[in-house]
Amino acid sequence: MPGAGVPVLSLDAVSIRYRGGDGSLVNALEDVTLRLVAGEMLGIFGPSGCGKTTLLMAAGLLEIPTEGTVRFSGTQADTMAGEAALRDFRRRHIGFVFQKPNLVPFLTAVENVALAMVIDGVPAGEAEQRAMGLLAALDIAHRAGNRPAGLSGGEQQRVAVARALANDPVLLLADEPTAALDSRRGRQVMELLLGIARRRLAAVAVVTHDPRSIDLFDRMIEMEDGRIVNESRAAAA
Ligand SMILES: Nc1ncnc2c1ncn2[C@@H]1O[C@H](COP(=O)(O)OP(=O)(O)O)[C@@H](O)[C@H]1O
Ligand SMILES: [Mg+2]
Repeated sequence: MPGAGVPVLSLDAVSIRYRGGDGSLVNALEDVTLRLVAGEMLGIFGPSGCGKTTLLMAAGLLEIPTEGTVRFSGTQADTMAGEAALRDFRRRHIGFVFQKPNLVPFLTAVENVALAMVIDGVPAGEAEQRAMGLLAALDIAHRAGNRPAGLSGGEQQRVAVARALANDPVLLLADEPTAALDSRRGRQVMELLLGIARRRLAAVAVVTHDPRSIDLFDRMIEMEDGRIVNESRAAAA
């Protein structure tokens, strides 16, 4: 496990262009350079359509840049590698949390968290034990036996965060994870993400519109038209 401040990921002059429905090119990401280090929580802000999700997709190796490079420190994982290698790296080292928890409805909370590990070849008993540990770390172990329908929105999102931690990621990417939650539960999820950065020394990047949580970020970037137009650091680091 790297120490706090150790480089995790660098995006260098990354541009991503999509071809729109009418055949025109959309510059979803334009010349973005960004570094993420272990133990920090980065906030990504900007209006709808400015490229926030595309930035997370690039950082998470889900979208290959049209130009520029994405590189994980100390690994061979960069966007010059083949598709299979990227998929493998993603599965082993990157966690994703989305706006909706997207839990499997017929599995319990603990089974939802264990599922990816089981698919990955971890024996079921061990996977469940580790899943219970993650649920406990997120203060939701008492709901382990509930199916998603028996959990509140905030509880479901906690389970989704636990699931994202199953592979002990060096990078955790969250795309508007509190958008469907009330302010108190939204704040709790944001605090949870900060705890993951601090205690597990993951690099955490969170897209959010919620101005109420800005005090939790070490660093914030603001995007516009696919570019980073502003960057600021927390006063008290
Ligand atoms: N798969 C795609 N195909 C075509 N255009 C896309 C695709 N994904 C995103 N875009 C476009 O790229 C721009 C940035 O989108 P996105 O990253 O989703 O913005 P945000 O998350 O900030 O709302 C938008 O103009 C969007 O319409
Ligand atoms: Mg988005």
